[in-house]
Amino acid sequence: MANYSEIQIKSYRGTYSVHFIENPFELIKNYDENTIFVLDEKVESLYFEEFKNSIGDRSVLRITASEDNKNFKKMEGYIDQLLVFGIRRDKKLVAIGGGITQDITCFLASTLFRGVFWEFFPTTLLAQADSCIGSKSSINYGNVKNLLGTFCPPNKVHVSVSFLRTLEQKEIQSGIGEMIKVHFLNDYMTFKSLADEFERISNWDVLEKFLYDSLLYKKKFIEVDEFDRGIRNVMNYGHTFGHAIESATNFGVPHGIAVTIGMDMANRFSYQKGWLEKELFESSKECLEQNYRDFKNVDINRDTFFSAISKDKKNVDGKLALIIPYKNNKIEKVLFENNAEFKDFCNNFFEGLDA
Ligand SMILES: NC(=O)c1ccc[n+]([C@@H]2O[C@H](COP(=O)([O-])OP(=O)(O)OC[C@H]3O[C@@H](n4cnc5c(N)ncnc54)[C@H](O)[C@@H]3O)[C@@H](O)[C@H]2O)c1
Repeated sequence: MANYSEIQIKSYRGTYSVHFIENPFELIKNYDENTIFVLDEKVESLYFEEFKNSIGDRSVLRITASEDNKNFKKMEGYIDQLLVFGIRRDKKLVAIGGGITQDITCFLASTLFRGVFWEFFPTTLLAQADSCIGSKSSINYGNVKNLLGTFCPPNKVHVSVSFLRTLEQKEIQSGIGEMIKVHFLNDYMTFKSLADEFERISNWDVLEKFLYDSLLYKKKFIEVDEFDRGIRNVMNYGHTFGHAIESATNFGVPHGIAVTIGMDMANRFSYQKGWLEKELFESSKECLEQNYRDFKNVDINRDTFFSAISKDKKNVDGKLALIIPYKNNKIEKVLFENNAEFKDFCNNFFEGLDA
């Protein structure tokens, strides 16, 4: 992937770039003593010798990647550790890990001293293909996912697909879920190009191409609406249902797989309302189902699901704001009553899942 040219992202803090690199440890070695690393513990243990040789004795804030550890109540502990490491305004945080390590680092970088520089080495497919650009940090509060957040883009992103070789299969599928989403949002033909190659997506060359394209498609949305006040809203396609599924399974379903199930629900909802065309509904269903095939029998707690849906942050005056394919198959935000008909739809969908 080192042959792919860098991608420049325009942001309110200036332009930052995404580089595609072969050997991350060569770069990690070169950071100066003003750097504090924020490192996913599992990634550290998988590449122990490489990190030992490249980070040496510089300061490391270690993160165990779990939703509980990106809860607001944990931030105080991280800040205490950073203070012990001598964090100052002129120091730099370098995050190495997936979306959880990113969210924590981005949140800390944007709030400490009202902003310190940070860079990111994403190590999951989801983080490489999606979350590494877009400026957002999302922090859980109580049992509400991603209630708190800031907009603070990294100063640089370094993508090395070499990290992906140790990822569990479910984490690969989770990243593919977000890749499917952004391909669908670009247009139906873009989605179809991915769906047609889906059987070959475990081939690295194919995966890398779709990873790169996913960033290019996401770039189009975030550059025109970085603060998520308009068009960027559609990036939440699959997320209203997806976040509720994550809560209702106690985060037993990885984020991007929950989003994949969520897109299938959104499409079915739209199809039943007469908006999404039958052919599009059926062909997308095939690809989405393939991607969540290992989670069809998952136990979804209905009470938690409906409670989470009712609290979704996009809701307006008690109405659900669903991002679904609407007229002319275009994905848009549409308001719906949170009523018995909607509940029946969801229950029927879940009953069909493990049929
Ligand atoms: N801020 C954003 O824009 C944004 C966007 C999408 C998702 N998110 C958030 O990201 C989180 C999910 O992130 P994620 O899916 O990247 O995963 P993650 O950070 O939760 O990591 C998933 C698992 O993979 C492990 N892991 C990471 N890199 C690995 C590697 N190279 N080899 C083996 N194991 C590795 C981690 O230790 C963890 O066990 C969610 O909390 C979600 O809300 C944030």
